[in-house]
Amino acid sequence: MSQSKIALITGINGQDGSYLARLLLEKGYSVHGLIRRASIERNDRIADIMDQMILHYGDMTDSGNLFRLVHDIKPNEIYNLAAQSHVQVSFDTPEYTANADGLGTLRLLEAIRILGLKNHTRFYQASSSELFGNANHSPQNEDTPFQPRSPYAAAKLYAYWTVRNYREAYGIHASNGILFNHESPQRGEGFVSRKITQAVGSYFRGDESLLHLGNLDAKRDWGHACDYVRGMWSMLQQNEPDDYVLATGRSETVRWFVNKAFSQIDVNLEWQGQGCNERAIDTKTGHILVQVDPKFYRPLEVYNLCGDATKAQKALGWKPQISLEEMIAEMVQSDCKAKV
Ligand code: NAP
Ligand code: GDD
Repeated sequence: MSQSKIALITGINGQDGSYLARLLLEKGYSVHGLIRRASIERNDRIADIMDQMILHYGDMTDSGNLFRLVHDIKPNEIYNLAAQSHVQVSFDTPEYTANADGLGTLRLLEAIRILGLKNHTRFYQASSSELFGNANHSPQNEDTPFQPRSPYAAAKLYAYWTVRNYREAYGIHASNGILFNHESPQRGEGFVSRKITQAVGSYFRGDESLLHLGNLDAKRDWGHACDYVRGMWSMLQQNEPDDYVLATGRSETVRWFVNKAFSQIDVNLEWQGQGCNERAIDTKTGHILVQVDPKFYRPLEVYNLCGDATKAQKALGWKPQISLEEMIAEMVQSDCKAKV
């Protein structure tokens, strides 16, 4: 009888970790996860599958802890999803972001190298389309030059190159997934998609609080997390490690997302004003629903991301299956049901 594969997921209680854990459990993996101690438990996203997994306390900034876990678990696959993942917050916590997102990746790769696990443990790194910054051409693919525009992106760039170096220098099966934005009902509340769908849910329940947003003209290539974790797994099933873009190839503005999300509850918006004075009004009731707030402007903005996933499509057979419209409908539906 063949033994089940062992996976270690860092960031298991994050959005992607929760989807990936489910996928790996379905595939019969023995799943280990890294979680941080918090004063209030925040394992809601994995509450229903907790008893099927083995969770370990740890932190990406703690070398000894990561080394010991890799030594004890000896995973066949490590999915390194843990990160301070909020771009705007990285301007407030640049050193911590570099430590967790950049050096954290190095720590795991060093553990694989020093423990002699290069032929045993495969490594997935959660790289990001933020690496491209304001790229000179669109859509962006694996050959597009990187121009990081935040402490988050700079830390992820360090991690990206560390993965490539460890692959080439030591023969570790380590791959970068350069993932464009992906969302879901499990998306963190500080990201723009979820912030918008939560506001729609609140309005649906009669709460007329204003939704404050930053740059409405920013464009993103938004997919569904469920599709993207399939791609992560596929990368580690290849004979050779490599780097792949996962994206939908479609880019829309934040303003478009707002319109589409409110239209799910039959609310049409009229936009008035410009720049910091722009706002959106419910055409039926005249209520102001959205107002720009410069507090959410970033010191540097990435204006337009749009990805080309041709390589992943050809090599992995990967294609997104959930459309942007379907995803927004799912998120709004979920947030309309959610308790206030
Ligand atoms: P997320 O929901 O913010 O989850 C991040 C996870 O990392 C959480 O489980 C968090 O745990 C954990 N974490 C943060 N700092 C840590 C530390 N110092 N030590 C241990 N764990 C730590 O992010 P996500 O959307 O699932 O994204 C997963 C990964 O993909 C991240 O690396 C992100 O940067 C990257 N990525 C995401 C996207 C996207 O659009 N979602 C696109 C490209 C790349 P706590 O709950 O304890 O904070
Ligand atoms: N968060 C947020 N809040 N963003 C806003 C707001 C707001 O109130 N108003 C406008 N935006 C704009 C941001 O300026 C940005 O241009 C865009 O909406 C998307 O912001 P986020 O949803 O925070 O995502 P992100 O693109 O910065 O980063 C996400 O995607 C990256 C991949 O490209 C994160 O998941 C990163 O971890 C990931 O690497």
